[in-house]
Parts: sequence; structure tokens; C-alpha cells
Amino acid sequence: MAFTIAIDGPAAAGKGTISKALANAFGIAHLDTGLIYRATGRRLLDGVEAVEAARTLQAADLEADGLRTPDVARAASQVAAIPEVREALVDFQRAFARRSGGAVLDGRDIGTVICPEAEVKFFVTASDAVRAERRYAELSGTGHDVTLDQVLADLRERDARDSARAAAPMIPAEDAVVLDTSEMSIDQAVEAAIKLVTERS
Ligand code: C5P
Repeated sequence: MAFTIAIDGPAAAGKGTISKALANAFGIAHLDTGLIYRATGRRLLDGVEAVEAARTLQAADLEADGLRTPDVARAASQVAAIPEVREALVDFQRAFARRSGGAVLDGRDIGTVICPEAEVKFFVTASDAVRAERRYAELSGTGHDVTLDQVLADLRERDARDSARAAAPMIPAEDAVVLDTSEMSIDQAVEAAIKLVTERS
């Protein structure tokens, strides 16, 4: 039977790490849906029209270099506000969620739109300051020339656009468990998530 775990929340709250740890702990597949929007945004920056970029996206595009840059993140959040772009990407995500053996999907609208019937839903969040520090450490650690202020401003701009858009805005599903990781170590957050999934499965 397909067992689906939906993980949503703003950038740099810990979704990715928690998703990977859950996939590992329960031996199920993981899809970082942000990568789909980043790959679409990357193609937009390369001159492909946004809806066309989403409709013709190939699995190999998700492996492209440079998807983790601030410019691509901004382009991703711009294309993600276009309803036709989101529509073009739904089937791929739902098919992934239904794969036998179960799946973890993380993004912004997994518990609300893509998998409203998911067995377990989390909304992972943390304060702006904590998220900016985490993303700053990540970006400067991979050689990006950024300042903490810039990273904070970028996160706020992206979260505001993701929350305010009409199409599938970032909001916790009514039945999501909210996990605020501001004061937690990553090990504590992972432990809390594993405990909850174990109780529900
Ligand atoms: O999660 P990540 O930061 O990689 O996502 C990049 C952007 O893609 C987000 O800011 C958001 O605009 C968009 N996104 C989305 N829905 C998802 C996943 C990502 O709108 N399920």
C-alpha cells in the first residue's frame, strides 16, 4: 500500500533534511518538489517561456548544475506563481506519491494540493533569523559570495510571494503537525518526525 508523507514549509526550515532522514528510516522514496520548480526556473533563465519550460521538463533537468543558487531560487518562486506551470507539474508529483512502498514529498503545497490524502503531514517552520543563518552557512560553505542580510531579504521576498500567491499558496494543511525547528537541533527535529510517523503508521 502507498504510504505518503507530506512535508511543507518555508525555505531553510529543515524540510529537506527531515525528508531525507524519514525516507532513510522507513526505506521509502523521496521527492524534493522544490527541485522541479527550480529546474523550471533554470530553464526560464535560459530563455524558455515558463509554461513551455514546465510542460516539457525532463527528469534529467532535475540533475542540472546550479539549481541551488539564489538566482534560480528567485526564478523558481516566480514561475511557481503561474497556475499553468503548477498544473503542468501535478501529474508527475502525484504519480511519484503513489509509488508502491510509499514516498516522502517535500515542498509548499504537498499536504494541501498535491497529496491531500497523505497519511502524515508536517509543516516545518523556523524563525526568519534562524532560517537565514542556516541558508547563509550553506551558501557561503559552497562558495557563494553572499551576505547574511542579502540571504534574509531573499528568503523574506520568496516566502511572501509563496504565501500570497492565489495558486496553491504556502499554508499549513488543517491536519498538518507544525514542527518549529528554531530551537531544535536537526537531530531533535528528525527524532520528533520519526516518532510521529511511527505512531501513525
Ligand atoms: O524548496 P525550494 O526552496 O527548493 O523551492 C524553490 C521554490 O519553488 C519555492 O520558493 C516555491 O516558490 C517553489 N515551490 C512551490 N511548490 C512546491 C515546491 C517549491 O511553489 N511544492
